[in-house]
Amino acid sequence: MNNFVDVNDADNIEALIEHALLLKKSPYDFENLGKRKTIGLIFMNPSLRTRLSTQKAAINLGMNVMMMNFSGEGWALETEQGVIMNGDKPEHIKEAAAVVGSYCDIVAIRTFAGLKDKDDDYNELILRQFIRYCGKPIINMESATVHPLQSLTDLITIKENKEAKNPKILLTWAPHPKVLPQAVANSFAQWTLAAGYDLTIACPKGYELSTDFAKGAKVVHKPEEGYMDADFVYAKNWSSFVHYGKKLSEDKSWMVDAEKMKLTNNAKFMHCLPVRRNVVVEDSVIDSVNSLVIQQASNRVWAAQAVLSKLLENL
Ligand code: CP
Repeated sequence: MNNFVDVNDADNIEALIEHALLLKKSPYDFENLGKRKTIGLIFMNPSLRTRLSTQKAAINLGMNVMMMNFSGEGWALETEQGVIMNGDKPEHIKEAAAVVGSYCDIVAIRTFAGLKDKDDDYNELILRQFIRYCGKPIINMESATVHPLQSLTDLITIKENKEAKNPKILLTWAPHPKVLPQAVANSFAQWTLAAGYDLTIACPKGYELSTDFAKGAKVVHKPEEGYMDADFVYAKNWSSFVHYGKKLSEDKSWMVDAEKMKLTNNAKFMHCLPVRRNVVVEDSVIDSVNSLVIQQASNRVWAAQAVLSKLLENL
């Protein structure tokens, strides 16, 4: 593995999951693999789980960790080419990425969708430039369109909890007061489908995901429709892809609640966190024994450690 940008960088998803589960059992088996190697964690957006789990994974592999919040701490970055930089952005991404790369052996970056320009976001304008100018292996810690460390974690958690060989998985849209990117939903669809799972996506009309990520999933448009016999219910809000970045619905009947969960095959509840209680999911569901949200968050360490170890092997 040379970069971990999306599902296409995982040559063998099942082997990567197995490697993560091995690391979960024996976290220090490769404690010298990253000795005298430095990872830079670059955040353009807030984080709890990604920041701490990736740091923990790197420490378990013996790496040195440097971290920087670009929003607030760094110079505002110019990303346009050939621009006259006489505005409010003092540093170009060309130099910033190259400088970070010169200090690090691996660079991990979080850069969310702006949700203003669909082409910029879906061409991964910032991530692609960072890869181009940084010159070091890159880990995607959530970009405009995908969140592969989260999705790998989700598959690890599904593997740990599934009873049937091919469980029925529901990805359901849920209401939210803010306008959010499609990255987690895109990525969950992309990884579960690549792993061969049976995926249904439930969302109000107008919230269909790009077929680049969700081709092969069954799509339904009523809140209760995908719950029947589901083994896993994964909730997430996202803004419209078709009417790009727009909020089309605040319909509360899409919240995951105990009534809809009763339709399932005693399904496990999943969410990437952070989650808005009693907006996205009712307390009684997230606090139930079927909720996997803390196990998911905890598995972020093993997903990151599996990915880091594969990148370190190739340095
Ligand atoms: N799930 C996730 O990526 O959490 P953070 O945004 O807190 O890192």
